[in-house]
Amino acid sequence: MFPKRALLSPLFALALALAGCSCQYEPTWDSLDSRPLPGWYDQAKFGIFVHWGVFSVPSYGSEWFWWYWQKQQQPSYVDFMKKNYPPDFQYQDFAPLFTAEFFDAKRWADIFAASGAKYVVLTTKHHEGFTLWGSKYSWNWNAVDTGPKRDLVDEVATAVRANGNLRLGLYHSLFEWFHPLFLQDAANVFKTNLFPTSKSLPELYEIVNKYKPEVLWSDGDGDAPYQYWNSTSFLAWLYNESPVRETVVTNDRWGVGTMCQHGGFYTCTDRYNPGHLLKHKWENCMTIDQKSWGFRRDAQLSDFLTIEHLVATLVETVSCGGNLLMNVGPTHDGRIVPIFEERLRQMGQWLGVNGEAIYNTSAWRAQNDTATPGIWYTWKPQEKTIYAVFLQWPTGGNVTLNVPVVSEGKTQVTLLGYAQPLKWTSVKPTGLTVFLPSFSIGQMPCYWAWTLKLTGAG
Ligand SMILES: *[C@@H]1O[C@H](CO)[C@@H](O)[C@H](O)[C@H]1NC(C)=O
Ligand SMILES: *[C@@H]1O[C@H](CO)[C@@H](O)[C@H](O)[C@H]1NC(C)=O
Ligand SMILES: *[C@@H]1O[C@H](CO)[C@@H](O)[C@H](O)[C@H]1NC(C)=O
Ligand SMILES: *[C@@H]1O[C@H](CO)[C@@H](O)[C@H](O)[C@H]1NC(C)=O
Repeated sequence: MFPKRALLSPLFALALALAGCSCQYEPTWDSLDSRPLPGWYDQAKFGIFVHWGVFSVPSYGSEWFWWYWQKQQQPSYVDFMKKNYPPDFQYQDFAPLFTAEFFDAKRWADIFAASGAKYVVLTTKHHEGFTLWGSKYSWNWNAVDTGPKRDLVDEVATAVRANGNLRLGLYHSLFEWFHPLFLQDAANVFKTNLFPTSKSLPELYEIVNKYKPEVLWSDGDGDAPYQYWNSTSFLAWLYNESPVRETVVTNDRWGVGTMCQHGGFYTCTDRYNPGHLLKHKWENCMTIDQKSWGFRRDAQLSDFLTIEHLVATLVETVSCGGNLLMNVGPTHDGRIVPIFEERLRQMGQWLGVNGEAIYNTSAWRAQNDTATPGIWYTWKPQEKTIYAVFLQWPTGGNVTLNVPVVSEGKTQVTLLGYAQPLKWTSVKPTGLTVFLPSFSIGQMPCYWAWTLKLTGAG
């Protein structure tokens, strides 16, 4: 299981050599950080995050339910349990109620693909430790032995791959709140590594070998350093020898202090959206339900972000060089409830018209306009095309952009989803005012943000 070179049999070493292992990365951040991110990830721009687990059974408050209820003893959680469950009810008793009877992985994949997303990241194991696959290292605290009695990771992986437009990503929590071996290591100030050696590392090798994810989304360092988690050794294996070494991307959550510093793309914090260009590839992971990653039955309509807000977030994120990872929480019985489905389909509707300004684009020299607020730029250098997405339809019917440099007779402006070129006039000192068509509502190419496409401009 563990790639210890000294222990490799000559035959295995030969097999590795034949498989083309160049083993160019060493288990140091200097070496690992030098790996170029596989190109597909930056081109994809948009993925769906799925938080699903035993926490989807109480589906109250947050996916941190167990922690808030028993560790922090937050009154609302304690009261919720007192009112609704027998006095001796344990968190473990939720697992058999995780039934997934309406779960249809193909239906999920259809909805995700309809959103315009290019990858899906599923929680294979959150901090509660329950694995959604039948892990060899999760004796009975997993979805095959308890609850649905199905390998949920396998079903999602198969459906996502069969879709053809989606890539598979797997989320994995390094630590587990209440695992006795983790607690023992923590009590030893992480001088022992019983838990990573017997649990989290074997699981990581297991899910990579078994499901071949192209995104490995690590989380939950449990305040322990990367040395404790052996993250650099694992990543060296992932990049050198794993079955996904050519295409896999990882994030930056591999131990205390690695966030925004080391690994693949940076996530920095949850809902990270800096509003300016970063030198390093990054991802904005955020939730449609503003208050939780897991499904919550107590959510109010106003807790769900509007499609206008979600489109604006996608546009800002991509303009600033990021990818958007937008989260939904399915129910314990395996449904993606209509409000999530509607938001996902709306995003897909918008991308159907404006995708050209999002997928495969690069960050431009300016991220937003300085004359008109709420205008975000992307571009395609090979095609010498600039895209300006405006979030508000202007009342005067014209939009002024002062960053592009235009020239009469050369610059062409169109609106994505509308065939006719638009009229424009240059403004001083630089830029242009574009005259928009006067549409009735039904004639609008889309409803939540619109894209000007500029060619022959600099
Ligand atoms: C973790 O790292 C330590 C020290 O580098 C090493 O002795 C051990 O074999 C590693 N364990 C695993 C499971 O990779
Ligand atoms: C993006 O570029 C890749 C590689 O050139 C290509 O395969 C893919 O179809 C492009 N995607 C879109 C949406 O244009
Ligand atoms: C451009 O974005 C920056 C960062 O979000 C913001 O401070 C600035 O006000 C924006 N400019 C306009 C004109 O919207
Ligand atoms: C653009 O619209 C604004 C607001 O209605 C108006 O004041 C302005 O004159 C228009 N600009 C041009 C160049 O027509």
